[in-house]
Formats: sequence, structure tokens, C-alpha cells
Amino acid sequence: HQTFKCFPKDFLWGAASAAYQVEGAWDKEGKGISNWDQFVRIPGKTYKGTTGDVAVDHYHRYLEDVRLMAEMGLKAYRFSVAWTRIFPNGRGKVNEKGIEFYDHLINELIKYNIEPILTLYHWDLPQSLQEEYGGWESRRIIEDFTNYSVELFKRFGDRVKYWVSLNEQNIFTSHGYLHATHPPGMNDEKLFYQVNHHANLANASVIKEFRKYVPDGKIGPSFAYSPAYAASSNPIDILAAENAEELNSYWWMDIYAWGKYPKMAWSYLEEKRIAPIIGEGDFELLQEGKPDFMGVNYYQSTTFEINPLEGGVGAGKMNTTGKKGTSKDSGIPGLFKTTANPNVERTNWDWNIDPQGLRIALRRITSRYDLPILISENGLGEYDQVEQGDVIHDDYRIEYLRSHIIAIQEAISDGVDLFGYCVWSFTDLLSWLNGFQKRYGFVYVNQHEEGNHDLRRMKKKSFFWYKEVIDSNGEKL
Ligand code: BG6
Repeated sequence: HQTFKCFPKDFLWGAASAAYQVEGAWDKEGKGISNWDQFVRIPGKTYKGTTGDVAVDHYHRYLEDVRLMAEMGLKAYRFSVAWTRIFPNGRGKVNEKGIEFYDHLINELIKYNIEPILTLYHWDLPQSLQEEYGGWESRRIIEDFTNYSVELFKRFGDRVKYWVSLNEQNIFTSHGYLHATHPPGMNDEKLFYQVNHHANLANASVIKEFRKYVPDGKIGPSFAYSPAYAASSNPIDILAAENAEELNSYWWMDIYAWGKYPKMAWSYLEEKRIAPIIGEGDFELLQEGKPDFMGVNYYQSTTFEINPLEGGVGAGKMNTTGKKGTSKDSGIPGLFKTTANPNVERTNWDWNIDPQGLRIALRRITSRYDLPILISENGLGEYDQVEQGDVIHDDYRIEYLRSHIIAIQEAISDGVDLFGYCVWSFTDLLSWLNGFQKRYGFVYVNQHEEGNHDLRRMKKKSFFWYKEVIDSNGEKL
């Protein structure tokens, strides 16, 4: 572009978190046990067996955290509600103490003109529902998830106007039901698609109810989108990338936006006999629960090449975004497999650093769905060093965010309707499987895998940098 469009006047410069990763207080004030509370206790599941029992103790320190947000000038804060704080067993009697916590948090944010963005589900399912009927494996989840969500709409809908329904359905289902790395730790491809169908129905049902309770609010899912690139201009690689895009991304986003599954993916699933069972009225419900926006969690792009049928690498294992560990080949024999992209740098966790990929992601979503977009996550997980005087020179994070914000501005200039950008994360937090060593925050938290630490907050260099970005509405990068 010769000239860039400015960021919209009321652009939501934000940051994001999730209950399990920040709150701690895992068994306090009536909270029930979640699938994650249970899963992290299985030996070998997380880095050094780290749990979110304390996390960064946001539950007790939210006042300090919100004060820091206010000091930074944050315009929006995306957080999730722990279902088990509201309904300790997934349904039944409301735990008023849980409601109180989020009430206070929301009021505190509003006091400082920080727009609350509430995520209904960021992976922590009441364990009792998992035990009772397999959680997402049963259609019964639709009613329970809707009931829980409606309770939140009634309690907070007067003050919260932006809502995220499901966070990264593609990730929690693939890691839970294909790779066995998240609860419930299974590897069952057919069940994976069935679970997703239930989650789609639950998502639509919640959106449908939302219209009644919060008619002036906006709601959408957050999808972990990793746009697919072809490894070469060889038509077979181009086709591999298109296959990946269809099965790894459109399979979810088409349902969200249009209430229908993409045709190529569907015929592939039918041929393999792993297509989900569709109930009567399912497609009507999916049609009725369309979002106001597409939430996008962007960390990286993924490159694909042909995956020949005989002895294809990673047979039977599908990496739904290629997000976690791109260097390992994974894919579906006959359709695609991931391969390294020599054109981009990588983080210490081997994630591609690709700001142009964000522009491409935003443009693809815009041309296919023509929906407003919220970037509900984007950020860099790295080791941070605290130097003398509690200073943290995280220039690499500033560089990562700067390049991605430039890509966003380019996308806006291209015509993308983007209304917010939530950096992952505000304070450091627990990385589900990587403990506290992989840090994302603008605020360092003195918390580690082992030992007792004072959990004190320290502003990183990126804190001051993002403050200026917000102050100047994206002019000073
Ligand atoms: C997203 C999730 O997958 O990416 C977050 O919504 C998560 O909850 C983030 O923490 C970063 O992933 P990781 O594995 O580096 O913690």
C-alpha cells in the first residue's frame, strides 16, 4: 500500500488469558474439579508435573492485575470463566461465590474503561460431566453447556458486550481425542469427529440463546487458524495445501459461519466411515446459531506437501493446525503432510514466526466469510530473563508483536474488518503443557515449576512499548 489506513478510533487494543492458566485457587470457595485439575495429576502429562493449582494466583491478585492493565491503558481484556466455579458439578445449584469473583473482576475492568471480553469455555470442563457421560462425547453436553452459558448471560450480560463461545475447538478436540495430549487423553478418530459435531451444536445453541439475553452484545468462537501454504508450486503440493485447509480449518469455520460442513471434507469422512452421526434438526440448529464475528487465534502458518498413500509419514495422525511442533511431519496419508518452511524463522519452541501469515489469515477469512474479525490471541512464548533491578529486556517479544501489528494494519488497509487485537497474554501464565518456563506476558510473574515463589509482578520492556502503541492508536510501533 502507498498509504495505510489508520486503526479504527475505538479499536480494542487488548490482552487475553484463560481461567485455568491464571487463576489458581483450584479448590477454593466452592469450585468443583475440572478435567484439567484431574489430568495434570497424571504423572508425565505436563512439564515437570506442573499444575494450575496456584497458577499466577490471579484469583487473589486480580485487583493488582487490573490496576496494571489500567496503567498500561489496555482497552480490552479477554478472560475465561471457570465453569466449575459457577456449577461445581457442571449443572444444578449456582455457586454464588464463583459468580461474585467474576462480578468483581468485571466491575473492576469497567471502572478503568477496559472492555471485558468473556470466554465461556477455555478447555476446563467439569470433571463430573466427563465422568457422568463423557463430556463432549455425548449430546447431553449441549443442554448443560447452554444452561451454564445462559446463567452467565443473565448475570453479566448487562455489562459484558463481547463474548467468545468456544476457545479453539480444533485444538481441544484434536489434543483430547486424536493426540491424547489433553484430557481426556484419547486417540479415536471417529469419536473426534462426533465430539466436534456435539461441540458445534453446543456452540450454535449458545449463540441462539445469547440473542434473547444479550440482544445488544456480540458473540463468536475463537478458532486457532494456521493458514496452509503449499511447499512448492508443484500442483500436487498445492492440492495438499488445499486438502489441509479444508480438513484443518474450513471444516470448523464453515460450520460456524454457514452452518454446513465443507463438501470435500465430508466425502472424505464418509469414505473413511468416520463422519459424525447427524441427528434430526441438527442442521436447523446450526443455521440458527451464527456468530457476529470470527475470533482468530493466530500464532503461525503451516506448510504442506503431498503425502503419498503408501507408508505416508504420520499415518493416522492428523495435526489439526500443525501448531504444536511444526518440525515433525504429520498429516493424513493421501491428502497432506506438514513440512518445514525454509522461508521463516522459528521460536525456541519451534513455532514459525510469520507475520505475513496473519495478514493472509485475515484476508482468507474475509474473502470466504465476510465477517468482522477479532484477533483473540497472538503472541510469543519465550524464556525471559530477569536482570538486576527486576528488569526484563524482552526485545524479541516487541519485535514479534510489532511485525504482527504491521501485518494487521496492512490487512485493515486491504479491507479486512478487524475490531480488536488481544495479545496472549497480559501477565505470564501457565502454559498448559510447558509449565511457567514458556512465557507470554507483558508482566513477568515470579512463578516457576519448582519451589515456592513470591508471585510478584514485574513489568517487562514490552509493557511500556505496548502502552505507547495503545496511546498512539497504533502509530508508534
Ligand atoms: C492457545 C491457547 O492454544 O495458545 C492458549 O488458547 C495457549 O490457552 C496458547 O496457552 C499458547 O500455547 P502454549 O502451548 O504455548 O501455552
